[in-house]
Amino acid sequence: MDKKEQVAEEAINYIAQGNVVGLGSGTTASQFIKALGKSSLRSKIVGVATSISSDRLAREVGIKTVDIDSVDWIDVTVDGADEVDKDLNILKGGGGQLTREKKVRNKSKSYIVIISDDKLVGRIMDRFPLPVEVLPFGQKTTMKELEAIGMTCQLRGGFITDNGNLVCDCKPLEKFDLQELDQRIKSITGVVETGLFLGGKKKILVSNGEMVTVLG
Ligand code: 5RP
Repeated sequence: MDKKEQVAEEAINYIAQGNVVGLGSGTTASQFIKALGKSSLRSKIVGVATSISSDRLAREVGIKTVDIDSVDWIDVTVDGADEVDKDLNILKGGGGQLTREKKVRNKSKSYIVIISDDKLVGRIMDRFPLPVEVLPFGQKTTMKELEAIGMTCQLRGGFITDNGNLVCDCKPLEKFDLQELDQRIKSITGVVETGLFLGGKKKILVSNGEMVTVLG
């Protein structure tokens, strides 16, 4: 079975009737939305989408979606990730929807991350740069300020987030502490959010194509 499909189907077991469900973005999260759409829970839950495309997909498969501001909390969110390290730090934002994804995660009582085993890394940013969402206003200045704190910074060409912002893909030049790096980046005016999802309770479901392992 395809790894993404397998882990997406496993995540259905974490959803209960009556839940408000955060719907992640990306190809793995899309598999989850499709699986939820096929399940008997479809009409018994409501979704809060982390992107315009996830919202559209959810509606297409028959899931009712509501605005994040219309609910007091989200029971459980299921989302994908680009990298997960051994301390369960998470890198997200490959699809550029990191701010909405973090906003939805922060409102969730339970957070489930679904990945294929190739997303497990020794160290965050081993394989992917760190996506940073920035305001279009003063974007070049913001990038210079990111470089000044010791990052290389590449503007993601031709991409605009669902919030109308830009994404820079950044890499630190030297060894770094993840928490400290996150704080330093977020202290720059014009930075909206980073793709570092650190701390908090979570479960990581990992598929190797044969079985799903649960971390956390
Ligand atoms: C989008 C994300 C995605 O969840 C992440 O990029 C993983 O995507 P995929 O499941 O397609 O590999 O963070 O902003």
